[in-house]
Amino acid sequence: MIDSDPAGLYTWLAARLNDYRLAYLHVMRGDLYQKQSGDVMTPIRQHYKGVLIGNMGYTGAEADSDIAAGKIDAVAFGTSFLANPDLPARFKADAALNRPRPATFYTFGPEGYTDYPAFNPS
Ligand SMILES: Cc1cc2nc3c(=O)[nH]c(=O)nc-3n(C[C@H](O)[C@H](O)[C@H](O)COP(=O)(O)O)c2cc1C
Repeated sequence: MIDSDPAGLYTWLAARLNDYRLAYLHVMRGDLYQKQSGDVMTPIRQHYKGVLIGNMGYTGAEADSDIAAGKIDAVAFGTSFLANPDLPARFKADAALNRPRPATFYTFGPEGYTDYPAFNPS
């Protein structure tokens, strides 16, 4: 979703969500079409007191550094997991990742879901 004032909206929302005993807050920091710009994770971290999971466009390196810096508690990977079902093993080995193929994202059948090359540690 896209908003004209994402930081303002998320700041308000993050503070309000403290009233609920949520297990975690999972945030897409941008929209799928990359039309919305602006950092929403910083104001959310400032105002939300619970566990914060970031999503949208994170690399393994950015996830590591943002978690180490305390900006977020965890990252949810979408398309990189789709293209790399063995993503944790690849991160651990600092191996190359398969590139996601958007053309097969919303299609039926195995193509784009089970045919990405498996990680082969050598
Ligand atoms: C094929 C496909 C299906 C998705 N289905 C859903 C869904 O059903 N519900 C949802 O909240 N997000 C869905 N998403 C969005 C992802 O969960 C995630 O937010 C998005 O891919 C951004 O993360 P990424 O940059 O790590 O890929 C889908 C994404 C893709 C590519």
